[in-house]
Amino acid sequence: MAIPIEREQWQSRLGFMLAASGSAVGLGNIWRFPWLTGENGGGTFLFTYLILIFTIGLSVLMAEFALGRASQRDVVGAYETIGSKKWSWVGYVSVLTGLLIMSFYCVVGGWTLSYAFRAGMGQLAGDDAEVLQTIFSTFTASSLEPVFWQLLFIVLTVYVVMRGISSGIERWSRILMPILLVLLVGLAIWVLFLPGAWEGVKYMFLPDFSKFTPSMLVTALSQALFSLSVGMGAMITYGSYLKQQENLPRAALAVTALDTFVALVAGLLILPAVFAFGYSLDGGPGLAFVTLPAIFSGLPGALVLSTAFFLLLAIAALTSAVSILEVAVAWVHSQVSVSRQKSALLVGVIVTIMGVPVSLSFGIWQDVTLVGLNLFELADGLSGKIMLPVGALALAIFVGWIVWPRIRDEVLQGSEGSAATVRVWGFICRYIAPPAIVVILVAGLIS
Ligand code: TRP
Repeated sequence: MAIPIEREQWQSRLGFMLAASGSAVGLGNIWRFPWLTGENGGGTFLFTYLILIFTIGLSVLMAEFALGRASQRDVVGAYETIGSKKWSWVGYVSVLTGLLIMSFYCVVGGWTLSYAFRAGMGQLAGDDAEVLQTIFSTFTASSLEPVFWQLLFIVLTVYVVMRGISSGIERWSRILMPILLVLLVGLAIWVLFLPGAWEGVKYMFLPDFSKFTPSMLVTALSQALFSLSVGMGAMITYGSYLKQQENLPRAALAVTALDTFVALVAGLLILPAVFAFGYSLDGGPGLAFVTLPAIFSGLPGALVLSTAFFLLLAIAALTSAVSILEVAVAWVHSQVSVSRQKSALLVGVIVTIMGVPVSLSFGIWQDVTLVGLNLFELADGLSGKIMLPVGALALAIFVGWIVWPRIRDEVLQGSEGSAATVRVWGFICRYIAPPAIVVILVAGLIS
């Protein structure tokens, strides 16, 4: 194993918290969560999601932070130094999962940039459901344009990662994330007063357990892991830039709570709007891009508000994309001993090569399918419903069974009063998470 070149550190406790929250809060919350909740039966899905995120999700998040801090290594190095060479495959799978996620994440990141631009140019003013739907489908099917924005999004991500951990990510998140939150909450309150909106609230919160299906269970697990950025080492990598003082249980809980809060607010913004404007609940990946402009066009100052909103959303996506890219970059940087700059460029090129076909799958390549799924659905489904759960499963077994005393002591450093919490956490990592993930995976695959 190559000797890591001097490692970076977060400049402050706050910096770490911001970066971890910036990673968690992203398109997963605002674009993916409302769409999946709409498609999977509303309250039933939400209920399942909440249980999974606060048991398995939170536990895996804490395990990732601890493994990262204990090892001070990239994801492959973490499994090797704390465990043994035998475990390095989990690290390699993680790096691959990250690349696969990036291949579609940057497509949607590009959409947000393009929508910020369009909003600024006043092109999203049509408030009619059909018009907005057509604008979205025409745009995503047009090949060149979405690819242009996708490339811009990749360039921005690579640029931040090249600048390094603290000067890039920490500074930006500090100012912009709070503004996004305020805007989201304000918009959601406004939407709730639209006629018909209440139907959306009921749909989101009232569980109807007759809608429960095994495949919804995998979707909820996949979304819980995706939203918290766990299952592929992003939080291991971020944890590895920590010094020793951080209270990890508290940090993990704060990130999970904030992430859930943002998802709920985004749901409360988009789902009621679906009912108020008469859209279909199974709007798929386009849902947010159709409902949000519809919301804005009813508001005074629509142009400024919608431009600001999509820009902030693009930035939230960027702070998440940075954390996904960082996993592969940290690995290349330390294991292959190439400079951070060159590693970031290299990974950026790979992500571009993988990502352009995914973007085209909304247009000229929509007929390229495998087992009935187009490239977007494949990248999204394979990474989220199979690779992230497998990564989380491996991590729970690794931490709970293989290296437990070492990781337990790691967490207790900086959280000396939390012995009871740590015991509960150990119990989940050992006895709850592994069987639950296996059952959910199997149920999802055979259904
Ligand atoms: N959590 C981010 C979101 O909700 C996406 C993300 C960032 C991610 N890093 C990750 C997903 C690592 C899976 C794994 O948008």
